[in-house]
Amino acid sequence: MVLPCKHEQRMVRQARPTIELLTHLDRWHPDVNAPVHGTHTVVNAWRFVAAKREQEPRQLQLFQVVEQPQPLRLDAQLWRGSFNGKESTLQQLSPYVGKMKSGMASVLVQLYSQPGEVVLDPFSGSGVVPLEALLAGREAWANDLSPYAYVLTRGKMEAPASLSEALHRAEEVLAEVERMAPQVDLENVPEWVREFFHPDTLREVLAAFRILQAREDYFLMASLLGILHHVRPGFLSYPASHLVPYLRKRKYPPDRFPEMYAYRDLRSRLLAKVRRAYRRPKLSPNWPQRRFRVWKRNAMHLPIADESVDTIISSPPYFGALDYARDNRLCLWFLGCRDWKQLDASLTASRKVYLPQMERCLLEMHRVLKPGRPCVLVLGDVERDGKTHRTAEILARLAQEATEGEFTVETIYDDRIPDERRSRRRTKTTKFERILVLRKQ
Ligand SMILES: C[S@@+](CC[C@H](N)C(=O)[O-])C[C@H]1O[C@@H](n2cnc3c(N)ncnc32)[C@H](O)[C@@H]1O
Repeated sequence: MVLPCKHEQRMVRQARPTIELLTHLDRWHPDVNAPVHGTHTVVNAWRFVAAKREQEPRQLQLFQVVEQPQPLRLDAQLWRGSFNGKESTLQQLSPYVGKMKSGMASVLVQLYSQPGEVVLDPFSGSGVVPLEALLAGREAWANDLSPYAYVLTRGKMEAPASLSEALHRAEEVLAEVERMAPQVDLENVPEWVREFFHPDTLREVLAAFRILQAREDYFLMASLLGILHHVRPGFLSYPASHLVPYLRKRKYPPDRFPEMYAYRDLRSRLLAKVRRAYRRPKLSPNWPQRRFRVWKRNAMHLPIADESVDTIISSPPYFGALDYARDNRLCLWFLGCRDWKQLDASLTASRKVYLPQMERCLLEMHRVLKPGRPCVLVLGDVERDGKTHRTAEILARLAQEATEGEFTVETIYDDRIPDERRSRRRTKTTKFERILVLRKQ
């Protein structure tokens, strides 16, 4: 093996700004944005640059001979910075409060599982972990009690293999929507939902959800949820926030911004959304053969056989930190969940139920996991009433006690990452995240 000399190493370092632009590298690697971890990434980068410039730089030859992937290790450098320009654009189908960074999910999948193995996320949220697992050739099993999370996760898992297939399906649905929409009656739609939309837009949106539910088209349902509310023209609502549905009427009064309150057609917006989802899907040629399962159950009772899962990677709710149903109430309403308060009460969130319910969930995770295999949980500290609740440590203790030492704590990795880490509403409550790695004996 020929190692790069100092001069060659300097050339690699100088190439880094270019490497960061490599969003469509075929063999993308999560460390592409990190200080040179795997030489093969750099080699790919050089190949790409060479192709772009239509020349074969001499340094390309030099670096081909040192191609040698380095083993990954738990290192926050690997998921530092934004992944918006690098991740599969399917990860951006719809916003989700508490969403995990795809770069972190991808590293955890590669570190703790092998191709072909079953990776379970019992609290899948928007489906970031299961999608990264599928993209890395694992079998993805996912679960979340929220109907919104279920649709987003299933939507990603069931994404069509190509843009043309996705557009074809969207065109069929839109033709049906346009036939059905004029007959849609808005009388039974509550005022707080009507406030968000022009009546003709709302008719189209309601027709679309009815059709997509009948067709069980979760990919298009997730895409539609992703364009429901925002201030931008590509979205369907009157000006509103994106992550959590609040109207922005005070900032954009109708008399000053009448165009923002006009009819917004579903056709152009849904087709544009589908195109955005396939800008960089990163699906491998064997995507049609992928294996996955998705459930909408309470993680206290998983419909999964004993010792059937190779690896668990998940971000469970934090110690009483978020109101998942309240934050997603508009999307949930269109999915038929008319009482978000009841859903929030059934999720593991409030402080009163957190510990007993998480104990039950940890026992379930232990039951379904194969012996000797890891359970990796990403958990944020929560600051409330002047106290810091270190969720990872609380759950580490709980897991050991509940399983009588059958779950051992392999590591608690601290990830002090700035607030851009996740989509959050209450950025003040969670500043510190830890990765708890448990192992079943
Ligand atoms: C931190 S979020 C997961 C975010 C996810 N990793 C992502 O990247 O989008 C926690 C999830 O747990 C779900 N959840 C809370 N309590 C649950 C329970 N008892 N059973 C199943 N899911 C639950 C919530 O609906 C929420 O989606």
